[in-house]
Amino acid sequence: MNREKKDNHSGKNSLFQEIFACPQCHSNMISIDNSLICEKCKDQFLINDKIPSFLPRRITDHKILLAINGWANISWDYDEKITKTNKHLMRSIDSPLIHYCKKNNLVLEIGCGTARLSDAIAAKKCTYIGIDPSLFLLNQGIIKNRTSLLQGIGEFLPFKDGCFDVIIGGYHSFRYIQFRKCLEECARTTKPGGHLVFTLWNGWSLLASSFKFKNLIFNSYLKSILTKNLGTCNDVFSPYHIIKTIESSGFKVQKILSTKKDFPFLKAKPSRSIRYWHGVIGAFFGHNIIFICQKK
Ligand SMILES: C[S@@+](CC[C@H](N)C(=O)[O-])C[C@H]1O[C@@H](n2cnc3c(N)ncnc32)[C@H](O)[C@@H]1O
Ligand SMILES: [Zn+2]
Repeated sequence: MNREKKDNHSGKNSLFQEIFACPQCHSNMISIDNSLICEKCKDQFLINDKIPSFLPRRITDHKILLAINGWANISWDYDEKITKTNKHLMRSIDSPLIHYCKKNNLVLEIGCGTARLSDAIAAKKCTYIGIDPSLFLLNQGIIKNRTSLLQGIGEFLPFKDGCFDVIIGGYHSFRYIQFRKCLEECARTTKPGGHLVFTLWNGWSLLASSFKFKNLIFNSYLKSILTKNLGTCNDVFSPYHIIKTIESSGFKVQKILSTKKDFPFLKAKPSRSIRYWHGVIGAFFGHNIIFICQKK
């Protein structure tokens, strides 16, 4: 490791030591050898140079375990796959998240995957930290020289109260999370006045896109909704419901943007410029919905 890289790393490590707290009980942790041990519940977390692990030791919620295992066992090149998605659409989903990261901000991405957004955020002179349960995806990020990645989950954040200026949830990572629990953790760890910006799918639009006339009864998305077999899945059927949950978790919804695209019956062509529907009514029609929230 060259000198510059080493200094960089030790700088990041000392920042980490300052902001880490037990993901389970939020108490201080003591550093012993290459692990951190919670002063209160004595849970131990292994800190290695590459990807420190902060998965809580005692997860009992089977839905959280299902999501973790689901993402741990995927076996494709995520970044390669995502570049095949319409790049104008991706730009319209990503850019509001990047926009709210301002110079010198400490930014956390929950469900960072391969930390695809980290370079754009670091280019705005922010300090980026990414957390994700999937070691497989985090390792893909490490191979691409993306640093400050941690293994953990949005429902149990391993950070002290009020340390982040901005928290983001890129490309629908909040779809797979126990929504209220994660929002409460975001409210706990965001500074007053700080931002939370995340994206979710519009369930109606997904339903319309997956609609095949021959398959009306056996439409797999519809079937999984009816049989409640989607696991943890926060697709938006009522924006009002999502707003209510956000606002009762300690945030104010400042803005809602929804991407214009993809109703097959409207035959909309993918747009080259970034255009959105605005507000709650727009969120009934847009394809991807971006919630911009501010900590009260
Ligand atoms: C569609 S990917 C998005 C990745 C990345 N944010 C991006 O913009 O490309 C969804 C991510 O959510 C992560 N995820 C699933 N359950 C999670 C949880 N409970 N807490 C945090 N992340 C989770 C998955 O591991 C996966 O990396
Ligand atoms: Zn603890």
